[in-house]
Amino acid sequence: MALTPRRGRTRASLLGLLAATVMTTAGLAGTAGAATSPAQAQTATGSAKASTLGAQAAQSGRYFGAAVAAGKLGDTTYAGILNREFNMVTPENEMKWDTIERSRGSFNFAPADQIANHATSRGQRLRGHTLVWHSQLPSWVSSIGDATTLRSVMKNHITTTMAHYKGKIYAWDVVNEAFADGGGGQHRPSVFQNLLGDGFIEEAFRTARSADPAAKLCYNDYNIEDWNAAKTQGVYRMVRDFKARGVPIDCVGFQAHFGSGGPPTSFQTTLSSFAALGVDVQITELDIAQAPAAAYTNTTRACMNVPRCTGITVWGIRDSDSWRAGEKPLLFDNNGNKKAAYNATLTALGGTPAATKAATSPTASLPSSFKWNSSGILMSPKPDATHNIAGLKDPTVVRHNGKWHVFASVASASGYNLVYLSFTDWSQAASATHHYLDRSAIGTGYRAAPQVFYFAPQNKWYLVYQTGNASYSTNSDISNPNGWSAPKNFYSAMPDIIKQNIGNGYWVDMWVICDSANCYLFSSDDNGHLYRSQTTLAQFPNGFTNTVIAAQDSNKYALFEASNIYKVQGSNQYLLIVEAIGSDGKRYFRSWTSSSIAGSWTQLAASEANPFARANNTAFPAGAWTKDISHGELIRAGTDQTLTINPCQLQYLYQGMNPNAGGDYNTLPWRLGLLTQTNSAC
Ligand code: XIL
Repeated sequence: MALTPRRGRTRASLLGLLAATVMTTAGLAGTAGAATSPAQAQTATGSAKASTLGAQAAQSGRYFGAAVAAGKLGDTTYAGILNREFNMVTPENEMKWDTIERSRGSFNFAPADQIANHATSRGQRLRGHTLVWHSQLPSWVSSIGDATTLRSVMKNHITTTMAHYKGKIYAWDVVNEAFADGGGGQHRPSVFQNLLGDGFIEEAFRTARSADPAAKLCYNDYNIEDWNAAKTQGVYRMVRDFKARGVPIDCVGFQAHFGSGGPPTSFQTTLSSFAALGVDVQITELDIAQAPAAAYTNTTRACMNVPRCTGITVWGIRDSDSWRAGEKPLLFDNNGNKKAAYNATLTALGGTPAATKAATSPTASLPSSFKWNSSGILMSPKPDATHNIAGLKDPTVVRHNGKWHVFASVASASGYNLVYLSFTDWSQAASATHHYLDRSAIGTGYRAAPQVFYFAPQNKWYLVYQTGNASYSTNSDISNPNGWSAPKNFYSAMPDIIKQNIGNGYWVDMWVICDSANCYLFSSDDNGHLYRSQTTLAQFPNGFTNTVIAAQDSNKYALFEASNIYKVQGSNQYLLIVEAIGSDGKRYFRSWTSSSIAGSWTQLAASEANPFARANNTAFPAGAWTKDISHGELIRAGTDQTLTINPCQLQYLYQGMNPNAGGDYNTLPWRLGLLTQTNSAC
């Protein structure tokens, strides 16, 4: 171990140090991205509820579209709803090969032009559907017998069609339904696959990029909504490979033709996992058997919860317009009346009302001051014959498969290790089994301050923790405490910049967060410095070099440890919270925001008087069991490496302890509780 296990000091000596230091709560002083400006946060403005799907979706920067048939534009009920409700249009059949190029070299754009003109003259945007598909393909194409002819025919079809609509199409479904159902995630047989091989998809995308560089290029398919399906994984591997090799792809369309149960529970995970590869995701052909309101709500929420889910299209307007008319799967009945599913969808679209303001008003979605209610003690140590635990500390938590999964440090006179608990509801936390992770390959010895997340690009859970170095273990199943791998280190040794600045501090509290291109590893030194290293998403967990000081304060207690960084959902904003020690010797949190993970950080609620979370902005309806609000984690909207939080009704799992306790730091009686925000504007 490179470093003495931390926190050998006593509480008394810590307070002695405090007394000798003039406490300030000014902004982060000094260099390297430190913020000195006053809080610029605004209270959430919210947005007025809109009365149509398109307008409501637009409030979060999204669109709401419908598939449209040229032959129905003359139906006044139909056109009335189309013009009122939708701001994106997909021609249902008119841009398919068997309409556009029914015979070789003879192009008929008239029906699609009718829809395009209707849409563009009303400010509605267009999705182009679709260029290369095995279905609705004229027989003169499917009967081609040699690769050279087919390649030239495919290129000509893509180029001529895209040239005709150049500049008018928001996104093209370049290739539709190329993957087989079931099986091992392979391509389906088609004339394209059979003659050109796997590379036909890549050829189509490369051709499309040259034909209209301004259009987003999508891969579109059905039955790829369930993250656990082989087909989904096949498409995911393709997109990951395209991104890695620079094959042009901008978006993935999930058709979302659902049964009455609606989306699979993993749908949001699927959307966010694809988005984490660096593509937009869209729901492109939504219809749900019998249109249960809850199923539409769940589908819409999944999109709203994923920042890169840019819009939803329903596959038709009235039930009678649907290709599944018998199942009544749409938002309007045969007479054009709104159904319950319509209201549910409109409501769900309003789920993150402040999101659109993100670009112009960077702190619109978080308030500038916070108020909380604390639970009582939810989790306490559960010593066993071989684990004599004094404190349960430093919790990390995700919600996955209907359960909370909590990892925490266990502290005792002999040092630190880790524990895992899972339960369905907070009310069951106290009775959950404590699985000591020193029994897994993580092993015995100094391991503390865990952080758990799902690293979607590798389909793996990561547990990051401190060992004297910054270390991690991986697991394919978060619910299996024995599945964790032996520790590996992120760094070969403590980076020089930390050695130069750590003074008498301790290297602690490692934190990983990724955007769509890079991953960042933060750590603290109990000496007023927050450090940041960087690597690419593709290289993670390797390649963390060039460590820098991300923030610092000459008063080390004002920027002490336990830093968390999160992505704020529906905005371009990141939230940083850092644990400080107050003038009363008690722990509390300060907060900053930034438009990028690399800073610079602007104060949000960052003082003792206006803290992020402190005893003075927390009520304790179940009894004031702690005056410390110390090391913990916000509840996240998902599980992945983007660490996204919903800015509405924040919850923070934290460690606190009996204010009268004292003695050796390692044996302090830390317990876990949950804060729930009470001043949320949404
Ligand atoms: C459907 C249309 O809605 C029908 O009118 C047509 O007869 C068949 O195609 N996946 C797709 C869409 O990508 O193009 C299909 O549209 C529905 C399934």
